Amino acid sequence: MKLVIGSDHGGYELKEDVKQYLIDKGYDVEDVGTFSTASCDYPDIAKAACAKIQSGECERGILVCGTGVGISMAANKCKGIRAACCSDTFTARYVTLHNDANVLCFGGRVVGAGLAHELVDAYLSGTFEGGRHKIRVDKIMALEAEQL
Ligand code: RB5
Repeated sequence: MKLVIGSDHGGYELKEDVKQYLIDKGYDVEDVGTFSTASCDYPDIAKAACAKIQSGECERGILVCGTGVGISMAANKCKGIRAACCSDTFTARYVTLHNDANVLCFGGRVVGAGLAHELVDAYLSGTFEGGRHKIRVDKIMALEAEQL
């Protein structure tokens, strides 16, 4: 599976750690930045990462900012993106199983590297269950389509 990963400065160090963790596990990982701790704007990173998913180049994404919230808000403004900000493994598992989330977000100032590894494992290990959950996810996407 090809993944896209990105962060702002608040998530930079954790992003680098998680990127290496995923590469070591055999994932093909595309990094859209940021590439230093210099201040930058998380919507720019979210946009660049989501474009990789929208084009089909990457299947899923991992985004990190200070809290995980700003970058998930920005990602969820991008068409076709279902981003979930998680700091526990139960939620990270179920956003795949029930919500078909195509982006996982978390905060570099909230979770440590050990928990972040468990979050990405939980998120990436399952597959969308479909069925009644597909009806609900389709309604989410219909909401997006009907916005002016
Ligand atoms: C940057 O200081 C910080 O606001 C950002 O990383 C993020 O936490 C926003 O939601």
